[in-house]
Amino acid sequence: MSQTEELPAIPQPAAPARFEEATHASSGGTQWWRRSVIYQIYPRSFRDTTGNGIGDLRGITTELHQIASLGVDAIWLSPFFASPQKDAGYDVSDYRAVDPLFGTLGDFDELIAEANRLEVKILVDIVPNHCSDQHALFREALASPAGSAAREMFIFRDGLGDGGQLPPNNWQSHFGGSAWTRIHEPDGTEGQYYLHLFDSSQPDFNWDNPAVGDEFASVLRFWLDRGAGGFRVDVAHALVKASGLPDWHGRADGADTPGYPFADAPMFGQPAVHEVFRRWRAICEEYPGERVLCAEANVHPIEAMADWVRPDEMHQSFNFPFLHTDWDAAALKAIITRSLKAFDAVGAPSTWVLSNHDVPRHATRLGAPSPALRPGDGLGPGDAQPDPVLGLARARAATLFMLGLPGGAYLYQGEELGLGDHTELPHEYRQDPTYARTDGERLGRDGCRVPLPWNDSTRSLGFSDADTGWLPQPEGWESLTRQAQESDPDSTLNLYRKALELRGSHHLGLGNLNWLEDTIGGQLLGFGNSGVLVLLNLGSTPVDVPAGEVLLASSATALGAAPAGTGSLVLNPDAALWLRPPTA
Ligand code: NOJ
Repeated sequence: MSQTEELPAIPQPAAPARFEEATHASSGGTQWWRRSVIYQIYPRSFRDTTGNGIGDLRGITTELHQIASLGVDAIWLSPFFASPQKDAGYDVSDYRAVDPLFGTLGDFDELIAEANRLEVKILVDIVPNHCSDQHALFREALASPAGSAAREMFIFRDGLGDGGQLPPNNWQSHFGGSAWTRIHEPDGTEGQYYLHLFDSSQPDFNWDNPAVGDEFASVLRFWLDRGAGGFRVDVAHALVKASGLPDWHGRADGADTPGYPFADAPMFGQPAVHEVFRRWRAICEEYPGERVLCAEANVHPIEAMADWVRPDEMHQSFNFPFLHTDWDAAALKAIITRSLKAFDAVGAPSTWVLSNHDVPRHATRLGAPSPALRPGDGLGPGDAQPDPVLGLARARAATLFMLGLPGGAYLYQGEELGLGDHTELPHEYRQDPTYARTDGERLGRDGCRVPLPWNDSTRSLGFSDADTGWLPQPEGWESLTRQAQESDPDSTLNLYRKALELRGSHHLGLGNLNWLEDTIGGQLLGFGNSGVLVLLNLGSTPVDVPAGEVLLASSATALGAAPAGTGSLVLNPDAALWLRPPTA
């Protein structure tokens, strides 16, 4: 049975749905980014056209029509700039060049031309907190004396203790180990330390130095001039550090720990960071076509994140608290309500996201045994494995629920195919620096970055002519290729297509949200938005479906018949539904 056409309209009334007062009343305007669906392409795993096992820009241009036809507004491209690839391109050695692995600037221009033809925007991932140790500016800093203008582009400090044997403070790298690395001075003696919040190959810029701001203003213009629709801004909350670089005993990623609230972290959320983005917003507004900025500002609570999207700052910020919320009706309702209120207060849309290249995919997360996985740590061959059937059912339901929410939504390549992580990736393939920097204690993020399956034409499932891509695909992906899902009306691919089409035609992205009063003992989450009732069953038993016309269900088995004689339907556990209630 297909998800829309053959589902019966519900014959008769259960009681009409009753709603709470509006949690969110849309009033912020109708610009595209207030209701956008943005699809993340991770270039190295999208499509390889050169046979080297790594995806490239031409692969994106070739297949872009397939993504555009899903009904997305824009593509966010993870970094494709010149880079030694120590952190999969988030270690940039030249912000104005395309890495030969991915192609040329000419290939980027062709991609923009194709995107313009298909009417999707291309957002570039800008990495302003740090560059690569191979960047010309950092090499110049290493070759220059302490205190020189070249060193002032980065955060160099003398060490502490006898002979400077100790790092300047106790900060830890996100990827494990100290956030400081000691250099050899040009004369060969042991010298200063430089700060790197991530890998030692990723030196942090000194944003107190106006020359750094000027350099990035020029980089933004370089890509805007070439037709970029805007930017996703990497680690946007970390650019400015507290003066004096005081010690920090909380977690490296800033997650709240007793006695060490995120708000006190000296490397995150410093007030001066907002001036940077005000300048960037003004630059975007010099260009036609509503160019946008989206913050990767992993700050909490959500009310603090809203500071990044005040009217003269960024347009959007990723809603990580939503992504990290457990499969629990009360918890989801609470974070959605808080998010809408926080972003409403500054006139910005909330965003919603379930997967990206840094966390286990939601089809894996939602089927994984408790306790929940930590972000940045995938599952490995030695771990209890997720239940793929449960994971996929919940992932489809979670997506359908998310796409009913007002605001902007982000999708990560492959989630429209229902892909989970490679949870049994042999360790010898791991490339995430987290794995090496923690001596294998943390597995890192490779499991969610596996090359996409397109069709059955090659051993790497159409990703490449090479037998395998840069990471091998897990068993079982033959049945999940895009080609295999095209003609199956119940496939995950077709669920995404229909959901995006209905989301657009019902204007859900710009709508208001009213929570359904009845949660059936806390297992049902429902809301009304623009005349559509969105329901998600997070419990373990079926729930009665209110009267209305079924628009879309999360799977062919989402709905069942209610007990004989009532003529109604039930929504099964781990399923979601869009319904149009009867008009009074
Ligand atoms: C966030 C990016 O999403 C992640 O992949 C990267 O490792 C860090 N920032 C450092 O750039």
